[in-house]
Formats: sequence, structure tokens, C-alpha cells
Amino acid sequence: MKIGLFGGTFDPVHLGHVALAEAALAAGELDRLIIMPAGQPPHKTGQVVSMAGYRYEMCWQAFAGDPHFEVSDLEILRAGPSYTLDTIRQTKHQLPADAELFLVYGSDILNDIEKWHQPAAIMSECALLLGVRGGSSQSDSKAKAADLCQRYSARISFFDAPKIELSSTLVREAAAAGHAFQSWVPEKVARTISKHKLYQYQSDMMAVSKPLTDQLSLLERQIWPLLDRKRLLHSLNATVYALHLARIHAVDLTQAGVAALLHDCAKCLPRHETQMYARLMGDDALLDRELAHGPAGAWLARERFGVDDPAILRAIHYHTTGSPGMTSLDKIIFIADKVEPARTYDNLDEIRRLVEFDLDAALKICLSEIDLFLKREKLKPHPYTGIAQAELEQRTRNK
Ligand SMILES: [Fe+2]
Ligand SMILES: [Fe+2]
Repeated sequence: MKIGLFGGTFDPVHLGHVALAEAALAAGELDRLIIMPAGQPPHKTGQVVSMAGYRYEMCWQAFAGDPHFEVSDLEILRAGPSYTLDTIRQTKHQLPADAELFLVYGSDILNDIEKWHQPAAIMSECALLLGVRGGSSQSDSKAKAADLCQRYSARISFFDAPKIELSSTLVREAAAAGHAFQSWVPEKVARTISKHKLYQYQSDMMAVSKPLTDQLSLLERQIWPLLDRKRLLHSLNATVYALHLARIHAVDLTQAGVAALLHDCAKCLPRHETQMYARLMGDDALLDRELAHGPAGAWLARERFGVDDPAILRAIHYHTTGSPGMTSLDKIIFIADKVEPARTYDNLDEIRRLVEFDLDAALKICLSEIDLFLKREKLKPHPYTGIAQAELEQRTRNK
């Protein structure tokens, strides 16, 4: 059995990646090609790399329809930098004993592979299957390969790769600037980028410090097994949006990012478990079906993920209802949850416009929309929401 391993940052995956993967599959007579989005790419420190869930989702959209491809979260779920050697060893461990593993790349990696972490071990563990684009690059690649074969006993074979001049940077920059990028990525990936407004908040993400990026990346890995894909993407959207709002309204970025990322961490648990954690927070007013994941999430954040900042725990606890004495952080988490880019309820554009400069005005509309929704469903508003609304009215009158 011949298995290929195609790793990359995939931020985003584009048609060049897809064409290379398809050509490798055909030429290498591979039974399967594993697509491996990197967790924390070691060579990308100092650059903004989208959170892993987004990159995994785009790979899924690009490849998962074909049974010859498998999208793996192995690197994403492994702590620390994503070294290729660790991935090769971990992947081999999971494959049948008779499986032969090939690293799939474009032939341009021949110029870099000696700078990777432990290149000799990589080349001894795994054969390389490399796409070449013809012309002078072909003869250069063959010469370089001959050199590596001699010095490292590397096993290198080539296949013809289609000539597609594309880069993820090009796609990211076009999407960030609002220019057309759709023809450079698979259709479903284009829809994912548009729906979640990926790359629109690049400047906000640039403002996030390296320690906070690392903390968010660790927490993402911790909530990964707890959430389904849709809920994870919602949590990532809320995080990016909350960071954007925190910058505008001078709220601590760590508090906003951590609270938003964890706000729904208890949402996909079995109901009895959510109820149990919610009871442990001692708030009997939030035990209803749709509300208990607030306090339950705060409990998990504190007990399982080591969050001890009461302001963060409070924002998670009350994110479904609002609460008396809402802080700016509470308001940001509440609003980011309701109007993050993939949300499609009525009146969102007005809330999104207002929240850029007036948190209270945006919160007011947000709360009244919830009132309308509850009325339609013939449900009563929660007492916490009523108090939050009354306080907001009072503050608006006193302004
Ligand atoms: Fe929620
Ligand atoms: Fe949510």
C-alpha cells in the first residue's frame, strides 16, 4: 500500500495545491493521500497564520469529497511546532506495517529541505515524491536530487506537476482588500472564505502578541474534541470579531480572545453533563436547555483549561442572557457571539455598524432583537436580560 503525505499551512488551500495533490495521486499510484494542515508552522513565526480550525475546514472543503484523500488533524492536535519528522513518525505509527509513506511536495522544496529540522532523519524515514513543472526547473531539480541521494541516501522520485502560478499570500491579500480571489480556490473554499470573512481582520490579528497567539492556539487544541466543526468555526469567528472589537473599545485582548474562544466550550456536551457543570457554578437561574452551557462553559474554562481571571469567566457565564452590571468585556462577548460574520439573523448589519463606535447602542438593539425572537417563540425573556436592558435604558437616559 502506497500512502502520500502532503503537508502545508494551507492558509488558504488553493487550486495549485489541489492540482499538485491530484497529479501526485495519479503519478505515484498512491492508494491514498493524507492532507496535513500544520498546527503551528515552525517557519511562520512572526507572521499571522489563521487559526487551525479555519485551515482544516478549507482543506476539508477542498478534498473531503474524494475517498482517495484524507484530511488529518494530527499536526493540529500535537503540541509545539509542527516538525515534519514528528508527523512522519506519528503517521507511520498509525499505518499498516506494509504501508510505504511518500512525502509529497513541489520540487522547489529541494532547495530548502536541508534547512528543515533533522533533514537526514526525514530522508531516511520517508521517500520523496516531488512535482516538477518542466523547463530549467526540471534539470535543476534532478541535479539537486542526485546530490541529496548521494549524501543522505534519499529516495526521490518525480512527477509532472501542472504549471499554476498561485500562492496563498496572493489569495489572502486579494480577499483582505475585497478584490476577486474566487477563481484561485475551489468553489467551496471560496464560499468558506466569504462566509466567515476570513482575512478581513488581518490588521487586528497582527496586533495579537505572540504569547496570546500561542495561548489561543493551545485553547483551540483543547476545545477541538469538544466541539463539532460548525460550533468550532462559530467560536473562531467570535474570537476574531471580539479581538477586533476589543481593539476599538480599549478592552484587554487576552480577556476578549480567551472568553470568546471558550464561550461555547460546553455547548456540544451531552445535556446531563452541561447541567452538572452549570450546577457546580451555583447559578440555578441558568439551568434551562439553551442557557446552561454559559455557566457550564465558565466551569470548564476554570477547572479544565486553567482560566482564573474572574472577568473572563463572567463573560462566558452570562453570554446567553446578558447580566446586571455588564462590563465592556461582557458586552463584546455577548455581541460577538450574536453577530459574528457567519450569523444571518435580521437586523445584523445595523448592530455591526453601531458596534464599531457605540457598544451600548449595539447591545440595546441586540437585546431587543432577542426579545422579539422570544415573543415569536412565545417564551418569556430571562430576568438577567430584563435587568441588563433596564440598566442600559438608565445609562442611555443619563448620557
Ligand atoms: Fe452560546
Ligand atoms: Fe456562541
